[in-house]
Amino acid sequence: MTEHTDAGSPRARGPWLLRRASVDDLDAIMGIEQRTFPTDAWSREGMHAELVGAHRYYLVAIATDAGGTPATSETNASAEPRASTEVVDAYAGLLAPPGAAQGDIQTIAVEERARGKGLGRLLMHALIAEARRRGIRELFLEVRADNPPARHLYDALGFAQVGVRPRYYQPDGVDAIVMRLQLPEARMEFTERSAVVDSASDRAQQDPRAERSEA
Ligand SMILES: CC(C)(COP(=O)(O)OP(=O)(O)OC[C@H]1O[C@@H](n2cnc3c(N)ncnc32)[C@H](O)[C@@H]1OP(=O)(O)O)[C@@H](O)C(=O)NCCC(=O)NCCS
Repeated sequence: MTEHTDAGSPRARGPWLLRRASVDDLDAIMGIEQRTFPTDAWSREGMHAELVGAHRYYLVAIATDAGGTPATSETNASAEPRASTEVVDAYAGLLAPPGAAQGDIQTIAVEERARGKGLGRLLMHALIAEARRRGIRELFLEVRADNPPARHLYDALGFAQVGVRPRYYQPDGVDAIVMRLQLPEARMEFTERSAVVDSASDRAQQDPRAERSEA
C-alpha cells in the first residue's frame, strides 16, 4: 500500500471498506461532489434526497490502513467518535425499485487522490451486484461524452451505448451518452463440460508436463 502525503490531505490510501452511506456522510459526499463536478454539482438538498430516498442504494468507500482499520483524518483521532473522522474517498449510488426490471447508476465519484487504483471499478461491481440481487435486468447510466476515464470504466464493465442526449449537461452544453448493461438472471449449472475442465486442470497441477503438452 502506498502512503499518500499530499499537503492537507489525509494520510492513508486503500484498501477500502465499503459501507452503506447515510445522511451522516452528507458533508463528506458533498465535498467530493463539489471538487469533482465544479460546474454541475448536485445541490446539497438533491444529494440529501438521494441518500434518504426510497429504492436507493448508496455506498461510501472508507480509506483503511494496512491492517484494515479505517484511516482517520485528525491527529487526535482517538479522542473523536470514529464516524466523524473516517476518510471518505468515494461514493456511488444505485436506483433500483423492487420488482422493476430496469435500474440506474445514479452517480459515482472518486477523490482525485484515490483514482486509478481500482476503487471506481470496486464500487461499480458492488452496485451491479446489488442491482442483480434486486432482480434488475437492465442497468442504465448517463455519462458525459467528454469523460474518457468514466467511459472506459463503463465499457470495461460491459455497458454498451444505447443513445445520446444532445447538450444534456448544462451549462457546458455537453452530450450525455446513455449506456446499458444487461444482467442475465444468475444461474448455477453443473455440466459435464465443466467437470471435464476441472479434472483436466487437476491433472495439470499434479503433472506440469501434462499442461505443456496440451497447450
Ligand atoms: C470515473 C472514475 C469513477 C473512475 O474511478 P477510478 O477509481 O479512478 O477507476 P479505476 O482505478 O477503478 O479504473 C477502472 C477502469 O476505469 C478506466 N479508467 C480509469 N481512469 C482512467 C483514465 N484516467 N483514463 C482512461 N481510463 C481510465 C479504465 O478502464 C480502468 O481500468 P484499467 O485500470 O484496467 O485500465 C473516476 O475517475 C472519477 O471519479 N472521475 C470523476 C467523476 C466522474 O467522472 N464520475 C462518473 C460520472 S458518469
